[in-house]
Amino acid sequence: MAKSVALIIGSLRKDSINRKLAKALEKLAEGRLAFHELHIGDLPHYNEELWDHLPDAVARLKDRVEHSDAVLALTPEYNRSYPGVIKNALDWGSRPYGANSWADKPAAITGTSPGAIGTAVGQARLKGDMLNLGMIIMAQPEAYIQWKPEAVAADGSISDEPLRKFLAAYVDAFVAFVEKHG
Ligand code: FNR
Repeated sequence: MAKSVALIIGSLRKDSINRKLAKALEKLAEGRLAFHELHIGDLPHYNEELWDHLPDAVARLKDRVEHSDAVLALTPEYNRSYPGVIKNALDWGSRPYGANSWADKPAAITGTSPGAIGTAVGQARLKGDMLNLGMIIMAQPEAYIQWKPEAVAADGSISDEPLRKFLAAYVDAFVAFVEKHG
């Protein structure tokens, strides 16, 4: 049976290139991993007072993470870090104290930007914060993808053969990682 993966996409843009990359990974993982997006844009800004009347979006996030075998995060790079919308989701999922939904979850981080280093700095910062939450991060292979508009179609098919091979190997490694740690 396919392992369930809670998917974080760090861009709220409809035409996000990170969303397109997620689609490509989902297609490559078909039958092995089932992606379920965490709708992190629905979360309110973290506010301790909201635990008294827990917003549905927070309850859904924690439930989805806890019932997933793994987490996959795709992040753009914003000012050499990762977007605040991801940090907000990490903070919500980490609470209440003693009920951290992220703890011990196997996870992989990737991302894409048009820039030459393909989100490397943003991913490094996200990795540090996810490790701090007790997540088990796939260290290798890494995937810093410099986006080429023509390489991935809207349905997730990849026309650039070297990129397809690279992402296929990345997905194979993640499947093996989830089998081992999930
Ligand atoms: C960016 N972008 C960017 N790119 C990069 O490679 N390094 C960076 O530090 C930044 N910084 C940055 C800050 C802010 C506030 C924005 C809005 C953008 C460009 C960014 O990678 C580009 O907009 C991507 O297309 C965003 O990904 P989505 O939204 O298409 O998934």
